[in-house]
Amino acid sequence: MASSFPFFFLCALLSISAALAQTSFRPKALVLPVTKDSSTLQYLTRINQRTPLVPVSLTVDLGGQFLWVDCDQGYVTSTYRPARCGSAQCHLAGSGSCGTCNSAPRPGCNNNTCGLFPDNTITNTATSGDLGSDVVSVQSTDGKNPGRVVSQSNFLFVCGSTFLLEGLASGAKGMAGLGRTRISLPSQFAAAYSFPRKFAICLSSSTRASGVAFFGNGPYVLLPNVDASTSLIYTPLIINPVSTAAVSSEGEASSDYFIGVKSIKINEKVVPINTNLLSINKTDGYGGTKISTVNPYTVLQTSIYNAVVKAFVNELSGVPRVASVAPFGACFSSKNIGSTRVGPAVPQIDLVLQSESVYWRIFGANSMVQVSDNVLCLGFVDGGANPRTSIVIGGHQIEDNLLQFDLATSRLGFSSSLLFRQTTCANFNFTSNA
Ligand SMILES: *[C@@H]1O[C@H](CO)[C@@H](O)[C@H](O)[C@H]1NC(C)=O
Ligand SMILES: *[C@@H]1O[C@H](CO)[C@@H](O)[C@H](O)[C@H]1NC(C)=O
Ligand SMILES: *[C@@H]1O[C@H](CO)[C@@H](O)[C@H](O)[C@H]1NC(C)=O
Repeated sequence: MASSFPFFFLCALLSISAALAQTSFRPKALVLPVTKDSSTLQYLTRINQRTPLVPVSLTVDLGGQFLWVDCDQGYVTSTYRPARCGSAQCHLAGSGSCGTCNSAPRPGCNNNTCGLFPDNTITNTATSGDLGSDVVSVQSTDGKNPGRVVSQSNFLFVCGSTFLLEGLASGAKGMAGLGRTRISLPSQFAAAYSFPRKFAICLSSSTRASGVAFFGNGPYVLLPNVDASTSLIYTPLIINPVSTAAVSSEGEASSDYFIGVKSIKINEKVVPINTNLLSINKTDGYGGTKISTVNPYTVLQTSIYNAVVKAFVNELSGVPRVASVAPFGACFSSKNIGSTRVGPAVPQIDLVLQSESVYWRIFGANSMVQVSDNVLCLGFVDGGANPRTSIVIGGHQIEDNLLQFDLATSRLGFSSSLLFRQTTCANFNFTSNA
């Protein structure tokens, strides 16, 4: 007895200090690097997951429903927990299914486990997969540098299969869904650390320097000391009541972020388009405007595309058009186009939002793509006559702009081109100050 007392006392002390260590530091925000893959033009991030922790490279899917990773190959961990049918986790994830598995138990193969449909939104391929949780570890931030690493022991994700990785950038083991669901990365981080349900993405236009994603409130500071969370323009985020996922249940809303574009102007002149295409049909979910990180360029419904190209070419009269370079339709000799701080000197394109005075102005750096030394193309592509969504604002158009998504108030804050403020999305100081 005499010797068990100090031992018990020591254990109690250790567990108290372990609990203190976990609770005494609560991050205000988290930060992840986002790189651009030069061959696929996908945006990639990296989290540390499992026990022991390993870095996992993931394609960022802004409207994606959750984190999914390949559990078939190389998933080694001692801390995976399947989500049991009927559990609070299954409920949170909105899964009503219950699965069994006939081989030996492992992550992705368990009995009495609820499932969801991991979706490769690059190739539009989906499969079924188990919901489970494991440790996820990321760096906190004060908005200026990365700080202490924080770990979440029960981070929910879905097990995908190796074949589902096809079409993802080399090395990617899954997709990081930032969409409007209860189990997307922003929602789980906010719930775990009790910070506001806000996140921001700032995509780099360079494949050599990382952009950044912040989870939680600003500041979001870019060198040389520019807080990109200030002077944002706000517009409501709109819910599309019909899911845009490859597999969904009836009545499930889309996890994508839609905004209310009311008209398009080029050089302040209204482009004549069928504005019915800009609203979301509440019955079938067609139409509207969303923002996507899995489309490298903005995709426009054919009639909108044709009208925009025509108006743009008109406004750029005097500059010789050259042969088109796929996937673009309007290309120009760059010798005849000057340059400005915000890219090639071309007509500005405005996406007019909730009122005439609120618009998202796209300058040359975001509208034009340099396809060769002498050729610049208008970086929009034709989405066909009957696409699900009429306007999908793609990666090139949001690079070097900070976008903040506030899930609690359902609004988007956007900075317009950071080049005006003499910084870029590649200017977050990733040197840790922990
Ligand atoms: C699931 O249950 C069946 C029947 O009891 C059993 O044969 C199988 O091995 C179990 N699978 C797992 C992954 O535990
Ligand atoms: C909305 O979609 C439904 C189903 O496809 C269709 O019947 C209806 O005409 C559409 N409404 C409008 C305003 O286009
Ligand atoms: C980046 O942050 C580190 C750590 O705070 C600091 O020492 C360094 O000076 C910063 N770099 C620049 C260019 O400001």
